[in-house]
Amino acid sequence: MKIIEVEDYKALTKKTSEIIIERVSQSTSLTLGLATGSTPLGVYENLREDFLNNKTSYQHVQTFNLDEYVGLHKENPNSYYYYMRENLFNHIDIPSDQIHIPNGMAEDLEIECQRYEGLIEQVGGIDLQLLGIGVNGHIGFNEPGTAFDSTTHVVKLAESTRRANSRFFHDLSEVPTHAITMGIATIMKSKQIILLVYGLKKAQILHDLMTKEINEELPASILKKHPNVTIIADAKAMSIIK
Ligand code: F6R
Repeated sequence: MKIIEVEDYKALTKKTSEIIIERVSQSTSLTLGLATGSTPLGVYENLREDFLNNKTSYQHVQTFNLDEYVGLHKENPNSYYYYMRENLFNHIDIPSDQIHIPNGMAEDLEIECQRYEGLIEQVGGIDLQLLGIGVNGHIGFNEPGTAFDSTTHVVKLAESTRRANSRFFHDLSEVPTHAITMGIATIMKSKQIILLVYGLKKAQILHDLMTKEINEELPASILKKHPNVTIIADAKAMSIIK
């Protein structure tokens, strides 16, 4: 894994969006894997601004989001569908049928997981996957203990994850208990991965990731086996490593 240390959040989002914009503008067909949460918000802001100023086109881009809550409608402001539309898709020229997010309202969630996994394969896999990391080392919603050979599946969210995400809801009881997530094996099939790590809150897990052995209790540790992972971390996230 290659680590790029940047000074602060602004530099982290600048570096990341530059990489994405370069790939989007230099390819004729591209599949992006996208994340939600706080960390990529500034990246999406830069992509919106770039589209406004430079008209970088996404007509040839397909996107696959990592995860979605179970039981939240697309129109629910806390759904990841809503988040992606508000923060990115409504502001660029990507055709709506090229946007893919697991359907957390599907009648049969198992079939939905298989459909999603199959769709990723069908388009030839993800070229560039953007990831954040949970304070417990999760990637996507793959919580500690998730099998490394897992594909897209339904997960019961860890209490720490529900608590961390409750900041977006009125209170903890509103946070869904389950989600659909790409599995670890799905993520590992991506050709290139960028892991964003930002802030003091993530300093301990970044330290653990860099120092501990690969094991299922630290889901992100599997990334050490991937041939093309770049971690972009700010100085605060790097503070324990140094
Ligand atoms: C989001 C996702 C999660 C987040 C992680 C970090 O789609 O899959 O793994 O990347 O929980 O979240 P933030 O960026 O809010 O700290």
